[in-house]
Amino acid sequence: MYPAMGCHEYHELATKIYEAIKMEHTDGMYYDQLAEKAPTDEARQIIKNMARDEHCHAHTLEMVYKELTGMNPPPEPQPPQVGEYTEALRQRLKAETDAVEFYRELYLATHNYYLRDIFFRIMNDEIEHALRLIYLLTF
Ligand SMILES: [Fe+2]
Ligand SMILES: [Fe+2]
Repeated sequence: MYPAMGCHEYHELATKIYEAIKMEHTDGMYYDQLAEKAPTDEARQIIKNMARDEHCHAHTLEMVYKELTGMNPPPEPQPPQVGEYTEALRQRLKAETDAVEFYRELYLATHNYYLRDIFFRIMNDEIEHALRLIYLLTF
């Protein structure tokens, strides 16, 4: 399914996906908790949608990891600590911007169309999350 990939390249990709799965699980749990702190129904809905995206990213990458390595993905990490609402939004804006960069690098380093599409879609979701966080911080 995954064409000609060097051994080093393959291990590096598998390691990055492994780390990404943990990150996505943590992000999903983070937004689940942050949604409870949202001051309005609109904000809560926006944050819940982001939580849903992150859980979906984790599951998609788990599937990819299993197909790629034949091994089990990492176990679900401990739920993260969520601080004060506005400060949490600011921290997430930085984290989402970093996530965009992370998936852009994976996208550019991967020649397999199936994987590229996955990384591209996730990257776009992370861009959307950053924009939604700016909206939540502004209004
Ligand atoms: Fe994500
Ligand atoms: Fe995100």
